[in-house]
Amino acid sequence: MAPRYDNSYKETDFERIFLDFMQMKEFAKHPLIMKSAKGVWYEDVNGERYLDGLSGIFVVNVGHGNSRIIDAMQTQLHELTFNPPLHSTNLRALELAELVASLTPGDLRTIKLFSGGSEATEAAMKLARQYHKQTGNPGKYKVVSLYGGYHGSTMGALAASGTTRRKTAFEPFGTGYIHVFPPTCYRCPYGLDYPDCDVLCARIVDDVIKREDPSTVSAFIVEPISNTAGIVTPPERYFKILREICDKHNVLLIFDEVITGFGRTGKMFAAQTFGTTPDIICMGKGMASGYAPIGGVAFSDRIADAFLGKEEEQVQFNHGHTFGGNPLSCAAALANIKEIEERDLPRKAAETGAKIVKRLQELDHLGIIGDIRGKGLLVGAEFVRDLKTKQQFEERLRFGIQVGKAALEKKLLLRYDPNWIAFAPPLIIEDKEIDIMMKLFEESLEHTLASLNPPSIE
Ligand SMILES: Cc1ncc(COP(=O)(O)O)c(C=O)c1O
Repeated sequence: MAPRYDNSYKETDFERIFLDFMQMKEFAKHPLIMKSAKGVWYEDVNGERYLDGLSGIFVVNVGHGNSRIIDAMQTQLHELTFNPPLHSTNLRALELAELVASLTPGDLRTIKLFSGGSEATEAAMKLARQYHKQTGNPGKYKVVSLYGGYHGSTMGALAASGTTRRKTAFEPFGTGYIHVFPPTCYRCPYGLDYPDCDVLCARIVDDVIKREDPSTVSAFIVEPISNTAGIVTPPERYFKILREICDKHNVLLIFDEVITGFGRTGKMFAAQTFGTTPDIICMGKGMASGYAPIGGVAFSDRIADAFLGKEEEQVQFNHGHTFGGNPLSCAAALANIKEIEERDLPRKAAETGAKIVKRLQELDHLGIIGDIRGKGLLVGAEFVRDLKTKQQFEERLRFGIQVGKAALEKKLLLRYDPNWIAFAPPLIIEDKEIDIMMKLFEESLEHTLASLNPPSIE
C-alpha cells in the first residue's frame, strides 16, 4: 500500500493496527495521525497543529525537531548502526554510560542499556534477585511496590505495577509481588493528616517486610512521582524513611525514573530532587527524547561488584536484549542529554512548572481543583465536585476524561484520567506557549462544566 499523507484513511484501515491501550473501533471514528513536529507543536496529516502538553508521553524532553540530535544520529548512521552484542560494544554506548554515570547520584555508576522502560524495570528486578543469590541470600526474591504505580507492560513489570485496570486481564502473574498503599496525602489511605501521621505509609513498609520475612524480600520498586496513581508526590520524609527500612532489611531500593529522569522534576534525576539515593535507577522515555528507543539501569558499586568476581568464577548478569546499547539510540541519547545539561533544562523545568502551578491555583474560582501535585514539569490536578468534602465527580461522568477530550478538540494534548489531569510539556516550553496551554485548558474545563449544567431553556 502506497503511503497516503492526507486524511483519506477509512475506518476499516484501523482494524489491522492495534495502538497502545486503545479501543480501535473508537479510535477509527476520530483517528489522529501525526505527520511532523517542531518544538512543542505537532502537525497532523490534515495540517492541524497540536500543542504538546505531554511531551508525547513524558518523552520529548528537549522538544521536537532538535537539529543537534538529528545531526548526531545522521553521523552515526554513516558510521555504525549495529554491533554484535555477544562479542562487542560500541563507542557511543561507552560514551553514554560514562555520561549517565557522571549525572546519577551517589555511586550509581555502572550502566546497562536497553530499548525502553519495561526492559529497564524488568532488568532491575532481575538484577536484584541475582545480586542476592550470589551474595549469600538466595531466598530473597519478593518485590514490594505501590498500589496505583506503573512499571511497564511486560509480565514482571506489570506484576509489580499496581494499576488494577491494566492488570487483571493478564492475571495470574508470578508469585512474590507485594503491594502497599501509596503516599496519597490528599486522600490518605489511613485517614491521617501529614505531618501528624508521621509518614505511616512509609513506616508501615518495615512491618510489611517483617511479616513477609526479610529473608524473602529482594527489592522495593517505586516511581518517585507516580503518574498512573495521579501524579502522586510523596511528602518530604517519605523516601528517607524508605531508604532506612530498605537498608535495615538488605532490600534494594529501585527508583523507576522512566518518567521522572532527565530533568523532568527540576534536577537530572528525581532521586536528586528528593535527596535520596536508591540502589538502582531505571531510565527510559526522556533519555533520548524519543528520537530513538532507549532505556537503561544505573546501579551502585555494591551491586556491580557482586558481578565482577574473579575471572574463573564466571559471574555474569544473565540478562540481555538484542537492541540494548544500539549505537544509533546511544548517539541520540548522548546528544539529547548534552542538550539537557548545557541548556540547564532541569532548572527551567522547575521554574516553568511553578508557573503552571500558579495558573492552576488561579482557577480556584471554578471550585473543582481539589489538589495540585507534582514537581518541575510534571504537574497534576485532581478534580472534585466539592472542595470541602473532597467528593469526586460521579464515576459515570468521567469528568477528567471529558476535560481531556475537550482539550484534544481544542488541539491540546494532555494526560487525562477520570479524576485528574496532568501537564508535562517539553522542558523547552516558552512562556507564551504556557499561556496558550493554560488558556486552552481553562476553556476545556469551562466547556466540560457547562456540559454538566446546560443552561435551561425558558
Ligand atoms: C514509570 C514507568 N515505568 C516504566 C514504563 C514502561 O516503559 P515503556 O513503555 O518504555 O516500556 C512506563 C511507561 O509508561 C512508566 O511510566
